[in-house]
This record gives sequence, structure tokens and C-alpha cells, in this order.
Amino acid sequence: MPKHKIMTPDQSSGRELTFEILKYNPRDPHSKPHLETYKIKETPGMTLFVALNMIREDLDPDLAFDFVCRAGICGSCGMMINGRPQLACRTRTADYPDGKIRLMPMPAFELIKDLSVITGQWMDGMSKRVESWIHSKTEHDITRIEEPVEPDVADATFELDRCIECGICVASCATALMRPDFVGAVGLNRIARFEMDPHDERTDADYFELVGDDAGIFGCMTLLACEDHCPKNLPLQEKIAYMRRKMAKVK
Ligand code: SF4
Ligand code: FES
Repeated sequence: MPKHKIMTPDQSSGRELTFEILKYNPRDPHSKPHLETYKIKETPGMTLFVALNMIREDLDPDLAFDFVCRAGICGSCGMMINGRPQLACRTRTADYPDGKIRLMPMPAFELIKDLSVITGQWMDGMSKRVESWIHSKTEHDITRIEEPVEPDVADATFELDRCIECGICVASCATALMRPDFVGAVGLNRIARFEMDPHDERTDADYFELVGDDAGIFGCMTLLACEDHCPKNLPLQEKIAYMRRKMAKVK
């Protein structure tokens, strides 16, 4: 969350907001990256989702950005808000006391246009790289009752499954920005999720084959920005440290 003083909607509503938004279409040879300025009136409880739709409806029908759920669930509205990667639908304009908000697309992902990036392609590559599915050689009889899992193990697995693949941890990460093959905190979190799942029969040596290098677990510089910005408050650094200790012991 921004470290600005939080204002109540009543204090802030009605003031003028100034947005500076990157406009650029990489598929149009005539397009040049530039910041466009928009001024709108703030409404009570306004989020960036509301503000961007108001700008598109009233001022610039060409403005591109992504939203689906408006509730911090789909992970599609990540963008750089005054330099910090955040979910726009969960960010209130009242969090910016001077009313000045600069929006840029998240780095590390391919730009479609303006604020819209393709996170899905990156996430698909990461999922294949860490083989993000249950590996089991056990024959399962689907007519039998499922084998129970200890509640604390199930809880720990579900906790890591809360990732919404928004890409904010990737956009926050210095390693990910320097080397495109880094699996990022989201990929290492995924490995930790399968490692603790008793249905997955992979060994530490199997995980080492996948992420035991500088593009995986040893690429993290422990700068902590992934965890600072993750909108789901996932324990990313704890899980990365846990997996790093395990991978360091693999002979
Ligand atoms: S780990 Fe957090 S920041 Fe990264 S993709 Fe998942 S929800 Fe988003
Ligand atoms: S619109 Fe779905 S997380 Fe923001």
C-alpha cells in the first residue's frame, strides 16, 4: 500500500485529480511513447477502476487498460501507480493527498497498449518451466473414497494457492527485470506449493532440476519487494528461503 496519509472519501471528494498516463501502441509505427494528462473530479470512495473508466468515457475513448473482476481476484489490473506496482481496482484515489497520479504499464511483460500488458503469456511460460501440475506415478481408483490430507497440510497448500497471477511480484523484482528467464517469486511460490502437497511425488532432486540455478531459486537477491507488493500478502520470502535451504542440500 502507498505510504501516503489515507484521507477519508468525504475529505477528498470533489477535488480535481490530475492523471498522467503513458500512451503507446507498439504495434502502430506512428505511435510514440508519451505521457498524456487528464483532469477529472474525484467522487466519494473513488478507485482507479472508476477513475480510468471515467477518463475513457469522457476524455479518451482510445485509452487501453485491463479490468475484469474489480475485486482483487482476477489479477488483471496490475499497473505502476506513482512508481509502485499495485492492483488498480484495489487502489483508492484518496490515498494520494496531492491528487497527482502517474500510471505506467508494468515492466517485465509484453506491452499491448498504454496500460495493458500480457501477463498470461509470461505466466504460461513460468507454469511450464516449473511443471506446475501434480506429478504422481500412483494409480488412483476413482471409485474409492479420497485419501484424507492432514488439515494443517491442506491449509498450508491452499494458502499458497491464493496467488492470483497478477504479476506484481515480477514487476517489483530486480532479478526479473534483469533476466527474462527468472521464474520470479510467483514461480518459486508455485514450487513450494507442490513441494508441500503430499499428492506430488517429486523429490528435492526433481525440483533442483527445475529451479536449482540462477534463473530459479539462486537468482533471488532477497530484496523483498515481491512480498512488500504482493496484494494477497503471500509469505513469498519465507517460502523462497525454505526452498533455497532444501535446494542447497541437494547433492
Ligand atoms: S505471488 Fe502475489 S504478487 Fe505474485 S503473482 Fe501471486 S498474487 Fe501476484
Ligand atoms: S480487476 Fe480483477 S484484480 Fe483488479
